[in-house]
Amino acid sequence: MKQRIALIGFGTVAQGLCEILLNKKNELKKNYNYEFDIVAINDIKYGTAYNPKGLNIKNLLKEINEHRKFISNTVKWDAIQTIKKSNANIICELSYTNLIDGQPAIEYCKTALSLKKHVVTSNKGPAVFAYKKLSKLAKKNNVKFLIEGTVMSGTPVLNLVKGPLAGIKILSAKGILNGTTNFILTKMEEGMSYNDALLEAQKLGYAEADPTNDVEGYDAKAKITILANVLMNLNLKFHDVQCEGITKLTQLDIEEAKRNNARWKLVATVEKIGDEIKASVKPEMLPLSHPLAGVLESTNAITFKTDLLGDVTIVGKGAGKIETGFAILSDLLSIHMHKNLY
Ligand SMILES: NC(=O)c1ccc[n+]([C@@H]2O[C@H](COP(=O)([O-])OP(=O)(O)OC[C@H]3O[C@@H](n4cnc5c(N)ncnc54)[C@H](OP(=O)(O)O)[C@@H]3O)[C@@H](O)[C@H]2O)c1
Repeated sequence: MKQRIALIGFGTVAQGLCEILLNKKNELKKNYNYEFDIVAINDIKYGTAYNPKGLNIKNLLKEINEHRKFISNTVKWDAIQTIKKSNANIICELSYTNLIDGQPAIEYCKTALSLKKHVVTSNKGPAVFAYKKLSKLAKKNNVKFLIEGTVMSGTPVLNLVKGPLAGIKILSAKGILNGTTNFILTKMEEGMSYNDALLEAQKLGYAEADPTNDVEGYDAKAKITILANVLMNLNLKFHDVQCEGITKLTQLDIEEAKRNNARWKLVATVEKIGDEIKASVKPEMLPLSHPLAGVLESTNAITFKTDLLGDVTIVGKGAGKIETGFAILSDLLSIHMHKNLY
């Protein structure tokens, strides 16, 4: 069946998804019999465009580049009205991540799922603060709530463990889950100051204008919370993760690590010891022989300790327009192919 998609938020990820869908339209039809229409787009900046038979995406991209708003097919709907009134049967929630309480994205997801519309999101807010509630609602209404893009963009983590690794138990997870800080630490080791490395990360589009969520460790804290709750079935609260970022590390610390054949990494960890959940994000000096020490620049990596396979390490991109657009596509395809994930 042709998917009718509504996008909430039309920034980097949504535009990356559109680029992929446009470029791969024929390939997706031929290889997976996958067909789609993007019927609605709502964005706080650009307004709302709606056509129940499918929008002309190339045209809309041109409009926002030239006019900074949608010109054609416009309707006066906010996000909730777009979810309720459009004929979309899948909502891609791609608005901003709020790490205080996950809103308004949680409300968007709840509204969609209550109306028996699937939700695909890369927004960490709903995944951190309402994963279990939203998954339960999705299950009750026989639709999917899929969140692959929230942890390592399109590098498969959640779907890999839920899919090919089904049957395995994850005993602990330890990883480099934030590309911006890993890039900064790599550059500091090459001799750059923290400020210059941060500026370079911002120039390359890795870090936002306000880098707090990255450099203070909150982004990695959100991701380890998601991994704990989704893959280890724990009840870890975001605020219970002990968290320290990289802002206190100095050039002297970096030099000391070098002298010790080691390297600083911002490491996120979760493990269950007896009844106690131990979860943290903090800088760790890892020996160069450690598998995570070789992960450089903006690359992410996660090592799962498992009961049946020993250590499994996944390394790959953790952010980016096309990379995260692909995460959304992979969830859309899994809905299309009726894979029984989550
Ligand atoms: N970019 C990545 O590599 C990446 C990777 C993994 C996960 N994610 C997550 O995926 C989501 C989208 O990321 P992005 O990079 O595409 O962000 P982005 O470029 O900032 O785009 C988000 C868009 O949504 C709009 N928006 C904000 N609040 C909204 C609301 N309440 N209703 C409707 N539209 C709203 C924003 O408008 P304003 O600009 O006016 O606020 C912006 O146009 C975020 O939650 C992000 O954390 C991103």
